[in-house]
Amino acid sequence: RHYHFYASLPSTNRTAKELARQGAPEGTVVLAEEQTEGRGRLGRGWYSPPGLGIYFTMILRPTVPLGLAPQVTLLTSVAVCKALETVAGVQPQIKWPNDVLLNGKKFCGTLTELNAEMEAVNYLVVGTGINVNQSAGDFPDAVAAVATSVHATTGEKVDRARLLAAVLYFFEADYDYWLASGFDRLRAEWLERAAGMGTTVRVIAGQQEWVGKAEDIDSDGALLVRDSGGKLRRLISGEVSLRP
Ligand code: BTN
Repeated sequence: RHYHFYASLPSTNRTAKELARQGAPEGTVVLAEEQTEGRGRLGRGWYSPPGLGIYFTMILRPTVPLGLAPQVTLLTSVAVCKALETVAGVQPQIKWPNDVLLNGKKFCGTLTELNAEMEAVNYLVVGTGINVNQSAGDFPDAVAAVATSVHATTGEKVDRARLLAAVLYFFEADYDYWLASGFDRLRAEWLERAAGMGTTVRVIAGQQEWVGKAEDIDSDGALLVRDSGGKLRRLISGEVSLRP
């Protein structure tokens, strides 16, 4: 295995992309004790103070068509849940596409970036941030109402090395299974942990917002939401709020 460990980086995704461009092999992991410019989805940041969280990015080179790449991000969320179930004895939920929640608040997110040639994946960098030992008061005001950590939820401190080892263990097993056998079983494992399925959600897609009922994810990993006119709509990107 190829591990690159840094005390501080602007962003593990950024460093992973540089390594991938230079030919780093599948399975390379970039890990930082802190990030000074941690990035989230939709142009947001990821608060990454030293000593409290886990910030890492995996370089993957699956030989699959471009359209299947989003499934890898869903696998990551499932692996984080399994790791927390094993190491911390809690049962997180996943909010589509890949926020992981404890008591309805987010403690983990994944930002996947993709490089493709001729409709085939060249490399993926899958970057995950996990709030582990932060206390409730540690979060910046802007996210305090919606953010949590494992510690803030359970009252226990968690060994970050042990938790990361568990995430990588479960991810590797599920990724190998996915490459060999496809998404079906993993889709079921994702749905078992899904937050808000069967409930009314607000969909935020660019400038458009609408309310509907989240019903399922399909075999590609897209979210299926029934709108007020009864039409089933398929979301491949964007965001949902569980508080319609
Ligand atoms: C999100 O929920 O919006 C995604 C957050 C992803 C954060 C992780 S931390 C490690 C990796 N490096 C980054 O700059 N971002 C991801």
